[in-house]
Amino acid sequence: MKEHLPIEREEDVYMAVAVARRMMLGMALDEMQQQMVLVSVAELTRNVVVHANASGAFTCEILPGEIQVTVTDEGPGFPELLQDVLRGDGVSSTRGLGLGLAGVQRLMDTFSIQTSEKGSKIVASKRESLGQNQTAGTRNA
Ligand SMILES: Nc1ncnc2c1ncn2[C@@H]1O[C@H](COP(=O)(O)OP(=O)(O)OP(=O)(O)O)[C@@H](O)[C@H]1O
Ligand SMILES: [Mg+2]
Repeated sequence: MKEHLPIEREEDVYMAVAVARRMMLGMALDEMQQQMVLVSVAELTRNVVVHANASGAFTCEILPGEIQVTVTDEGPGFPELLQDVLRGDGVSSTRGLGLGLAGVQRLMDTFSIQTSEKGSKIVASKRESLGQNQTAGTRNA
């Protein structure tokens, strides 16, 4: 299952969040894990609006055992060193939710950035954790 959406304005951030929320239904991700994915989707897509001329796209794909989100843009690329961005000190302008890319890297299981003066691509995924959302309530108590 795969969905694709252009990111061209602020409201597309919320569209992307809604798509991810819907696609996670039925996955073995508990509420907290789902929120981690949704916050990450909001951060990544808002960065396209704020830092990449609002010219990009969001793809969400359910793969065996994981959800993968890909955010591409045709912006100018990252002006700073990626290692500084991912350390998270000093680069966050706190225009978004305040977690920034350092937060996204922390919230997701895999995370990668490719960037050039022609644009950027970020891929992140979160794995299902088997049994995690099986609470005591599901047993024959
Ligand atoms: N898609 C992008 N294209 C180009 N530069 C980007 C992109 N996304 C992020 N950046 C650069 O990386 C920096 C860090 O991004 P990050 O999302 O961590 O923080 P922020 O967007 O500045 O603030 P916030 O905490 O509100 O997200 C940005 O300030 C920007 O310079
Ligand atoms: Mg940001």
